[in-house]
Amino acid sequence: MNTPQIVHVDLGARAYDVVIGEGLIAGAADQIAPLLARNKVAILTDENVAARHLEPLVQALQGAGIASSHLALPPGEGTKAWPQFERAVEWLLAEKVERRDVVIALGGGVIGDLAGFAAAVLRRGVRFVQIPTTLLAQVDSSVGGKTGINAPQGKNLIGAFHQPSRVLADISALGTLSARDFLAGYGEVVKYGLLGDAAFFDWLEQNAPAMAAGDVAARIHAVRRSVEMKAEIVVRDETEQGDRALLNLGHTFCHALEAATGFGDRLLHGEGVAIGCALAFETSARLGLCSQEDPSRVRAHLREMGMKVDLADIPGDLPDADGLLELMAQDKKVLDGQLRFILARGIGQAFVTSDVSRDVVRGVLQDALAAR
Ligand code: GLY
Repeated sequence: MNTPQIVHVDLGARAYDVVIGEGLIAGAADQIAPLLARNKVAILTDENVAARHLEPLVQALQGAGIASSHLALPPGEGTKAWPQFERAVEWLLAEKVERRDVVIALGGGVIGDLAGFAAAVLRRGVRFVQIPTTLLAQVDSSVGGKTGINAPQGKNLIGAFHQPSRVLADISALGTLSARDFLAGYGEVVKYGLLGDAAFFDWLEQNAPAMAAGDVAARIHAVRRSVEMKAEIVVRDETEQGDRALLNLGHTFCHALEAATGFGDRLLHGEGVAIGCALAFETSARLGLCSQEDPSRVRAHLREMGMKVDLADIPGDLPDADGLLELMAQDKKVLDGQLRFILARGIGQAFVTSDVSRDVVRGVLQDALAAR
């Protein structure tokens, strides 16, 4: 087994390590024990993740004399709302979790976001450890302290910035993901190369097929580089006053497509990110910001990975270009009524701008819809 890799998120009093490696759930006690004021933790998870990963975690903790209790919530995005959030917080209170205790979030993005938000508000803030079990959660949602739940008005509209005390990204857990879920997470990995590291994108072009096929060393490298990039950006701009918006490359298009498809199985978030990145590069090329080869190269790589790339890859009806633009206008990144886009001057050279003509975006969407 490889030695775990560590990425330090250097946030002063709120600094923490992201530990990346194999067998970290089975070895969790070594990572968690130093954080504990007493030998007891509360674990929030979902029913699917519990079936695969809860027992090894509980056994590992028990072996080190750490008692645990757990609550397994229903799987799926629908859990990330007030009813299950209220249930989780009341359960933590019933478990008598105290101010100095640690809550463990074991699962994907839904559990990490909900458990992190529960930890943020419980007794005005308790510490929590993220144990992300999906690729998407390992490279994105478990790092950086965005926590929260969805509102009827939109995704992630209720929440808090609350940094975890440690993140254990167990690469072995990725072996239990379906190919579709793995590739959806890959949409967020490729985003990092596209937004800020052309050499990483080159590396992904060479190595991502092996990584998807199960190459552990490649998986560790890809998760590590993604987390390093996220950590650098979060340290520069923890509460998204500026640069952190770069992490939303592809997301303005993605959120509109997710809204149009009902935030469900028709289009997973990471699939929408991949399509959104391709559209963001197409928009950049039309604006003369990057060469026409760049969107072609992005699309070729996504296609080679067997991912959704075009609007034609989304099953069922979609709104017309104006309907999609309307959905984009609901995006959280809208500032003073202006849509904000993350565009690129080339692969690895993304920037944030509000200065994008709606006509150009409409044209990109019309052409993408016409190709369906
Ligand atoms: N997922 C984007 C961010 O953490 O800022």
